[in-house]
Amino acid sequence: MSTIKNISFSYLEYESPDELDAEDQELIIAAKDAAKQAYAPYSKFMVGAAVRLESGRIVHGSNVENAAFPSGICAERTAIAGAVSNYPDDKPVALAIAAKADEGFTSLPVSPCGNCRQVIAEEEVRTGKQIRIILSGKNKIQVLESITPLLPLQFSRENLRANRP
Ligand code: THU
Repeated sequence: MSTIKNISFSYLEYESPDELDAEDQELIIAAKDAAKQAYAPYSKFMVGAAVRLESGRIVHGSNVENAAFPSGICAERTAIAGAVSNYPDDKPVALAIAAKADEGFTSLPVSPCGNCRQVIAEEEVRTGKQIRIILSGKNKIQVLESITPLLPLQFSRENLRANRP
């Protein structure tokens, strides 16, 4: 017998960063600054991510591309790797993402790719804390309280056990 399961989620959408609280605004600015430092000579799509840690510290990252295309890495994973390797005990509580192309910052919010979703999800599992996700665009900002809704039915450490019920 089959059962229909349903997954739905809610998130907040804003028209301007001014509507967010001061800490989240600061994180968006850090993500935008990081985007300016991206190494993206191939796609010319410069992405910045800024992670706020529990202590208040901000760790940023940008995409770093490579002539061997798959060797490039996204901004989100650069930022998470920087945070985890430098401040393993200081748990990430929020992550903002922003991106710019030749014409300037994107109007649409930038959403993390599948690989990055998986990495952010692992970080929530590692620390036991939700990471507030702030997707920033010029005319639209979307805020989620966790990465989980962006990765339904995610592969996690539970799946590594052979006899999972
Ligand atoms: N990119 C990111 O850094 N983060 C995302 O969320 C989406 C894509 C990068 C990868 C590549 O360097 C460029 O943007 C174009 O896909």
